[in-house]
Amino acid sequence: MKKRYKIIDPFQDFAEIYEVTHRGKEDDLPLYLEFAEEVGSPLLEIGCGTGRVTYALAKAGHTVHGIDISKSMLKIATRKKKQFPKEVRNRVSFEQQDMAELDIPGKLFSLVLMPYGEFAHVLERERQQAALAAIARHMSANGVLIIGMSNWDALEKRMNYHGGSIAKWGGSMPLTYEGVFDDEENQRRIVRYLARGYDPSVQTAIHVYVHEITDMEGRFIAKETTIVPIRYVFRFEMELLLEKAGFCVENIYGYYDKSEFKFDSKRMIFVARKM
Ligand SMILES: C[S@@+](CC[C@H](N)C(=O)[O-])C[C@H]1O[C@@H](n2cnc3c(N)ncnc32)[C@H](O)[C@@H]1O
Repeated sequence: MKKRYKIIDPFQDFAEIYEVTHRGKEDDLPLYLEFAEEVGSPLLEIGCGTGRVTYALAKAGHTVHGIDISKSMLKIATRKKKQFPKEVRNRVSFEQQDMAELDIPGKLFSLVLMPYGEFAHVLERERQQAALAAIARHMSANGVLIIGMSNWDALEKRMNYHGGSIAKWGGSMPLTYEGVFDDEENQRRIVRYLARGYDPSVQTAIHVYVHEITDMEGRFIAKETTIVPIRYVFRFEMELLLEKAGFCVENIYGYYDKSEFKFDSKRMIFVARKM
């Protein structure tokens, strides 16, 4: 079938930086490990990236198949295999796939995870619906789908009411300091700045990342700019999309500690069961 959309991989030049800047992110792992414990293997991870969540699950004894659209992210995920003992490596497999055209013949999963904003990279509603329908086709009855993402509503409120770091797209977009990350392996330091512009008419934010890379003594090496479009999804919109794809939404959490979803929650984590 002819592809109707030109898919751009925003992680193409960004993958190595993503890996360094997310090495320490572990706050979501206990929740996903708990679900894996409850529901069991085999597990499908959509948008597995560099394998941050994948390997944590495999280390805990789960068999995980990770798919991602980005060759660059998968290259790092595959490279990392050698860091783990054979029994962990054997529980992990990776494959390049677009979630909107997910096709893993003969496989049904009891747990599907989309842990960290992956769904927001699907920009068109047609492709969002295609992705959820394809996921449902790859799940056993009563299987569980977890989708974690930012609570965009809170971000929008920050934009409107706090004069914060998110500007209207097209206006002046302030570049804010996001943090400094040491890449010990390559003896370099990465300083991240981010500007966000939001266009409510298309529920899309443009994230402009600027990374300044220096050596450990602060000598300049490179400056890299990456533009990542993010499609905002709101609570009831997501519930409706899930219901239309044949899921029943059982819970919406506001954070990884399973706290109740509220207007200012940082995260929006959907727990949906395939009907
Ligand atoms: C924010 S990263 C999260 C990576 C990883 N799950 C983690 O938690 O660190 C989002 C990932 O979704 C992937 N992605 C974006 N669009 C996708 C699509 N249509 N199909 C599959 N993966 C996609 C990106 O390539 C990227 O690796």
